[in-house]
Amino acid sequence: MAKGKTSSNRTVAVANRKGGCCKTTTVGALASGLTQQGYKVLAVDMDPQGNLTDWAGFDTEDKDTVYEVIMQRSPVNETIVHLDRYDLLPADAALANVEAELANVQGREYRLREALEPIASEYDFIVIDTPPNLGLLTIQSFAAAADGVVVTTDAGSFATKGMRDLAESLSMTRKYINPNARVIGILLTKFNPRWNTMKTMKEVTEKFSEYFDAPLYQTFIRQSVGVMTAQLESIDIYDMDKSIGAVSDYQSFVKEFINNITK
Ligand SMILES: Nc1ncnc2c1ncn2[C@@H]1O[C@H](COP(=O)(O)OP(=O)(O)OP(=O)(O)O)[C@@H](O)[C@H]1O
Ligand SMILES: [Mg+2]
Repeated sequence: MAKGKTSSNRTVAVANRKGGCCKTTTVGALASGLTQQGYKVLAVDMDPQGNLTDWAGFDTEDKDTVYEVIMQRSPVNETIVHLDRYDLLPADAALANVEAELANVQGREYRLREALEPIASEYDFIVIDTPPNLGLLTIQSFAAAADGVVVTTDAGSFATKGMRDLAESLSMTRKYINPNARVIGILLTKFNPRWNTMKTMKEVTEKFSEYFDAPLYQTFIRQSVGVMTAQLESIDIYDMDKSIGAVSDYQSFVKEFINNITK
């Protein structure tokens, strides 16, 4: 068992170097959906864009965030905020300073993992949102992800160089930092059901088996108008209009995620 992992806690990161492929939406949907299923969940925002924090409707002004936690200036339990459904370790633009401030510090890759260790046993799941790059914040997230990484990809851009880079970064992380930093599943997002599903699926599956030794989740998340507006209004996925395709898709995904990870 990985260091810092209790028998009940599971920690995963959601990643892709590419921007806009639904990492944050998936983290918010997972955190909320796992809570609906009775689990206690912490969502960690590791993106200086703070999109998860904004979606949750949390204002970081004059508040400590994951930045102070990583810089060891604020205790993690005093920085976590308790939302209606899940707990959140929030972020804002200050997080972007971590890379430069820790540039010469030994063990910088382990800062998030170390910060989460004392509170991990209080949660059934910890889900980490990562920024669209493979810098230190993403590596810290991979180091903390004792139960692996979910890769999200929008259906139109699976055959990119970014995927190869992500696979390479994960492989280096497994070698030097966290042997469990493997992809546990690939989630296809912004899927358009009008496409020729069988052909697209075959292409996607083949492409991914080239990069990662990991299965595609059976659930696809449909491209749906309405998700963006609801997020801007800080509406949780489970409070969104049920006629939004992505909302019911995420419910199926959460069940599939639980089945796979508790097998
Ligand atoms: N199923 C969906 N259909 C259509 N739009 C969506 C869907 N899910 C999310 N979006 C919208 O797509 C945009 C990108 O989503 P999201 O922020 O989750 O991606 P991301 O990978 O976290 O982006 P970044 O790399 O910038 O962090 C957002 O505006 C979001 O509201
Ligand atoms: Mg994001």
